[in-house]
Amino acid sequence: MPDSLPAMSKHEEGTSEVALTVNGVAHRLRIDPRVTLLDAVRDELGLTGSKKGCDQGQCGACTMLVAGRRINSCLTLAVMHEGDEITTIEGLGTPGALHPMQAAFVAHDGLQCGYCTPGQICSAVGAVDEIRRGVPSHVSRDLDCISHSDEEIRERMSGNLCRCAAYPNIVAAVRDAMEAQS
Ligand code: FES
Ligand code: FES
Repeated sequence: MPDSLPAMSKHEEGTSEVALTVNGVAHRLRIDPRVTLLDAVRDELGLTGSKKGCDQGQCGACTMLVAGRRINSCLTLAVMHEGDEITTIEGLGTPGALHPMQAAFVAHDGLQCGYCTPGQICSAVGAVDEIRRGVPSHVSRDLDCISHSDEEIRERMSGNLCRCAAYPNIVAAVRDAMEAQS
């Protein structure tokens, strides 16, 4: 891959260059600076696992991990992530070697239509890491400790909506994956 892109043509004026590492692969893009990270990953890189549900930060379908922290990728501009390491559902596992969280979702039937599932799984991976690192939630602040309760999981996963209401199975999957890591 070249170090920089060729000189801008007329129609590229007003665009910006950004370097992203997505699922371990380095990319250098020239894009409209108003393009969200979600649209850049889906439309420019062709990684369509991350879904666009609401495009306004309300559903969590677009959740990705940036340096291991979960974010709503529809709410952030791609150009703000120069040099960042980004993980999408495509980077978590493969069909033959699922990530433990993906395997737990399969084992517990944590999905129905599957539209929310990539975001649910990326969010769950981030949530379990937050618990491991001792990052408090509203539940743990009230209890004055971080629990592994279903209430704790529901609170941490509350930014990820599921129109099919697979919530009980999602909670069971996250609990299993969390307990397997602890
Ligand atoms: S598409 Fe990003 S939160 Fe809904
Ligand atoms: S499985 Fe259908 S929206 Fe969640």
